Amino acid sequence: MYNGLLHAHSGLRWVVLVLLVLAIIKAFSGWFGKKEYTAGDKKIALFALIATHIQLLLGLGLYFISPKVSFAEGAIQNEIYRFYTVEHMSMMIIAIIIITLGFSLAKRTTEGTAKFRKTALFYTLGLLIILSSIPWPFTVDGAGWF
Ligand code: HEM
Repeated sequence: MYNGLLHAHSGLRWVVLVLLVLAIIKAFSGWFGKKEYTAGDKKIALFALIATHIQLLLGLGLYFISPKVSFAEGAIQNEIYRFYTVEHMSMMIIAIIIITLGFSLAKRTTEGTAKFRKTALFYTLGLLIILSSIPWPFTVDGAGWF
């Protein structure tokens, strides 16, 4: 159970990253190229949103069973416990809220350029927070690539 969830959560990061990058490229090119907002533009933004929400659910599941999450006294002094118990969880939730906000603000706007602009800005901010909070093998001890 733990291993399955961990591998799903670790591997899904790549799906999240690829979909966010695609949605952001489309949004910027629509915004600056003054293109018409199409169903395809909405779809890629929606798929990226769904991927981040699935990642949130897997992360929440892991949070309760991971040996790297601890509320024991003094655990916060340990770099790994602090990262997974506090930093990773809170930064990722903030990023997902920003992406969700971007999607719903774009949805509520009728004008195409404004839809592109909101998606581009909110998704880029979310992506930057995600990139900086992923446990990469070169930033967090014991983290893997997949
Ligand atoms: C887009 C959002 C997220 C991404 C891209 C992401 C990505 C990752 C990655 C790459 C790992 C490392 C897996 C490994 O060591 O190979 C990880 C671990 C973990 N994540 Fe996330 N995560 C996200 C959101 C969340 C959220 C919202 C939570 C909690 C509510 C969470 C909880 C955890 C936990 C507890 C671990 C440690 C698992 C362990 O090694 O025991 N993640 N995450």
